[in-house]
Parts: sequence; C-alpha cells; structure tokens
Amino acid sequence: MEPATQILGIETSCDETAAAVVRRHADGRGEILSNVVYSQLQDHAAYGGVVPEIAARAHVEMLDALVDRALGEAGLQLRDIDAVAATAGPGLIGGLIVGLMTGKALAAASGKPFYAINHLEGHALTARLTDGLAFPYLLLLVSGGHTQVVLVTGVGDYRRWGTTIDDALGEAFDKTAKLLGLPYPGGPAVEKQAAGGDENRFALPQPLKGESRLDFSFSGLKTAIRQTARSIAPLGDDDIADLCASFQKTIADTLDERVGRSLARFNREIPGARDPKLVVAGGVAANRTIRARLDETCAAHGFSLVAPPLHLCTDNAAMIAWAAAERMAANCPPDTLQAPPRPRWPLDEESAARVGHGRRGTKA
Ligand code: KG4
Ligand code: ZN
Repeated sequence: MEPATQILGIETSCDETAAAVVRRHADGRGEILSNVVYSQLQDHAAYGGVVPEIAARAHVEMLDALVDRALGEAGLQLRDIDAVAATAGPGLIGGLIVGLMTGKALAAASGKPFYAINHLEGHALTARLTDGLAFPYLLLLVSGGHTQVVLVTGVGDYRRWGTTIDDALGEAFDKTAKLLGLPYPGGPAVEKQAAGGDENRFALPQPLKGESRLDFSFSGLKTAIRQTARSIAPLGDDDIADLCASFQKTIADTLDERVGRSLARFNREIPGARDPKLVVAGGVAANRTIRARLDETCAAHGFSLVAPPLHLCTDNAAMIAWAAAERMAANCPPDTLQAPPRPRWPLDEESAARVGHGRRGTKA
C-alpha cells in the first residue's frame, strides 16, 4: 500500500486566492487539513465583473499569508509536505503566473516535487475527495467561465461530451442580472428575484433543443430577455421578478433536456455501470431550482446527483492539492519548474475548440 501523502495546493486562476493542505490516506481516502480562500468579490463588484489586473495584484498581496495560514491550520511546516501543487491553467494569465511562481519557489526551496494542475481536473476529481466516488462518472461543470459535461473515467482520463458554444451559464445569469439592473454576481440576485415571480409569464427560447449534439448555448436566451424587457419597459418590480423566474425556469428546462441526453449516452455506452453518478460543480450549482431539476433529470435516467458542499464546488485550493495527490498515487511524474502558465488548457486535449465556449480566458 502506498504511504499517506500531504499536499500543499495553490489556486489563483481567477478571482479567488486560495491555499489548502490535503492528505491522501494510504487507502485512497481524502482529508482536508486546511482550506483557506480569499474571495475578491468586493474588489471587482463595482466593475460588474472580474478585472484581470486587479485580480493579479490581489493575488500577489494575499497569497503568501494564505499559504502560511493553510500550513498553520494544518499544523504542518513546509518540510512536512510531500509535494506542492499550483493551478497552471486555464485562467487569467496574471493570476496563473502569481500562483505558479509561488508554488515553484516553495517546491524549489523545500526540495519537494511540483505539480502544475489543470483547474478543470481539480473540479473533475473533487467528488472523489468529498464522496470517495469510483470511476466512471459524469461531471456537469456550471460556473462563470465554463459549462461542460465531462466523462471522467480515470485520473488524467477525461472526455468532454458537451460545452457551451457561446456564454457560460454563470455568465448568462450575470449578464441577465446586469441588464435588469440587479447587482453582481448575478446568479444569487436572479435566484432571489425569481422566488417571487411567475415563471410561466414569458415564453423564452431553448437554444439547441432537440439537437443530438450535447453542447449548450445561452446567448440567445439573454438576447430574448433584453428584447422582452424592452417591449414591456418601464419595468416594475413584478416584471423583473417574472423575467427572472421565466429565465431560471428556461435554464432548468434546458439543462434537463441537454444534460438528459448525456445521461442517456452514458447509459448506452457504459451499460454495466452500477448506480451511475452525475457530479455537479461550479457556482451555478448553488441554485436551488436548478439543483432540484437536476435531481429529477438524474432520477429519470437512473442516476444519482452528487453535489459536493458548495465551498468545494466553487474555486478552492483543496481540489488542486487533491488532483496532485491523485496524480502522485497514479504514478504520474511531477512537473518541472519550467511548466508554463496555460491560459487556455482544455481538459480533454482531443476535443476541438468550440466557437465562444464561455467567457474569454477567465476562470472555470
Ligand atoms: O464557480 P464560481 O464561484 O466561479 C467561477 O466562475 O469559477 O461561479 C460563479 C458563477 C457566477 O456567474 C455566479 O453568478 C453564479 O456562479 N452563481 C449562481 C448562483 N450563485 C452563483 N448562478 C445561479 N444561481 C445561483 N444561486
Ligand atoms: Zn472553477
């Protein structure tokens, strides 16, 4: 049996500065010894989105103290760590450089191996840390930067089945909120408004509905909201609530139809899988209406929905440390200190890039 390993992880790919220490026990069980996150939400709120230069500067200012805290809360010193891991991409170049340089410096100073981790792999493997999930399973990643369905069959073995051809889902929430005059980030604001609205008042389009490909598209929906809002302006409070409720219902219907096709494909192609699982990750997974609908979609296809705790669904460094721990256990060689930042880095190198596929160069 391999020995237990303790990994220091660093995450700086977008607007969360994070450090964590994770232990992988000899039996494969994961344990989070510390997990600290500084969210830059307030730094960017006035601009209605993430400003790359502000993000990079905040990472520089915060990261050293966060690494110290993560080690301190774990009750460990750098010499007790078996490897250092940092996100190398995809994400904003400035932040990636800060995290990578810091991780490499710590690895060099302590003589420990260094792992340059794909942020998406962190999301993809989190359910093994939290729920000890066995391969294979499907991942639905719905965040501000990505909307993907990924088949996860092993460490380093990922197949992207579907992705957005334009906006990411979180981005669609954020843009809809903005055009209705709601605050950033838009997802929570839209969900709150929707709770008091009539979801059947406006019939909105469901892009790609019925198409056999497994991709997503959300920009048409946002345009439809804009046109509808214009046609009934000036908007009263009830109108905004009804627009939000109709938008959210359409998203839930769309996910049901689009994701349902991926579940059906999994059942066709991997018929022997017992109790198949859909893991949901990303900030949009916080949305209760969407989660409830995904639960129904899963049940209809004989799947269970696995939703890790929200602070591990959104960006964090525990998932980066865990991905490195999994790589070590799978005997993947460490990376060199020359490993470059990769602002664009598909999880599944074989999938062709789609037009758009989410917010440019930003986080997952
Ligand atoms: O995963 P995340 O924290 O950051 C990344 O993009 O990586 O996701 C943030 C996104 C934002 O677009 C935000 O509006 C959306 O998740 N979001 C939500 C909710 N909470 C956050 N979308 C819908 N409903 C929510 N309750
Ligand atoms: Zn992410």
